[in-house]
Amino acid sequence: MRIFALSDIHIDYQENLRWVEAISDTDYVRDVLILAGDVSHDRDLCAQALECVRRKFARVFFVPGNHDLWLRSDESGDSLQKCTELLDRCRQLDVHTQPRCLTDTSTRIWIVPLFAWYVRPEEDPHESLFVPKQGEDPHLGMWVDNRAIRWPSFDGFKTAAAYFLAQNQDLPQTDDTAVVISFSHFVPRPELIFPTFAELESLGIVPVDPQPRFNFSRVAGCHSLECLIRQLRSQVHIYGHQHRNRQRHIDGITYLSHCLGYPRERAHGKIPKNLQQPLLVWDTDAGGRVLSCSGGER
Ligand SMILES: [Fe+2]
Repeated sequence: MRIFALSDIHIDYQENLRWVEAISDTDYVRDVLILAGDVSHDRDLCAQALECVRRKFARVFFVPGNHDLWLRSDESGDSLQKCTELLDRCRQLDVHTQPRCLTDTSTRIWIVPLFAWYVRPEEDPHESLFVPKQGEDPHLGMWVDNRAIRWPSFDGFKTAAAYFLAQNQDLPQTDDTAVVISFSHFVPRPELIFPTFAELESLGIVPVDPQPRFNFSRVAGCHSLECLIRQLRSQVHIYGHQHRNRQRHIDGITYLSHCLGYPRERAHGKIPKNLQQPLLVWDTDAGGRVLSCSGGER
């Protein structure tokens, strides 16, 4: 069995849709795909993509990203209703959104989706991954979620993130006899937001800030995600959201992000232009975990 990671496929872009459709129909039929959110804000397109990857892989695991919960101004309801509908659709398509233990010859492998949202510093400074940035717009005028995400009142919950984190009720009690691979759409720790020198060098790009007023750390994720990952004893955690592909090893856990991202991000080298396929994370024939992470080891 092999396990692959991918996120932020944004198939509203024709080029991205073609990329996903071009994934081999035969190479992955015994394999697992972890799809860490941001498929499309369009319900039908989102279902179409999930159906497409479900045909190609033996199993697909998924959590919604923020784009998947966007509402157009003429759409009724709220983003939480849209999330519920999407999870129902996943059940119909046999796409997993809950933890599941897979047995691979002698190894038990838990795949654990983690629900969350980001926390802005003004909502809860202790939960937010916020890192100040000189000259930033604190209102994030350019952040589409401000207009396209519509929450109901989360009775009893301080933030949307608190609500979603509370949905992770059925987490497995794991021990050292099992491998645990968890995943979320959102970022679990602030170090992951920023590139290392080695990463910039490998992409061959000069570190200029294209959006000096935009501070992504305001909407990146939340610290409680990291607590859940540690509680689970994850060996590998896969995440998305930022559209910056990273492979880091921090305090015993490998953190991976493998986003398809936007065509313009690939054109500008922020994401490798030649992204060929989902990222291979686990391969029994190769002895298990297959990635050796360079930057960020400690
Ligand atoms: Fe995205």
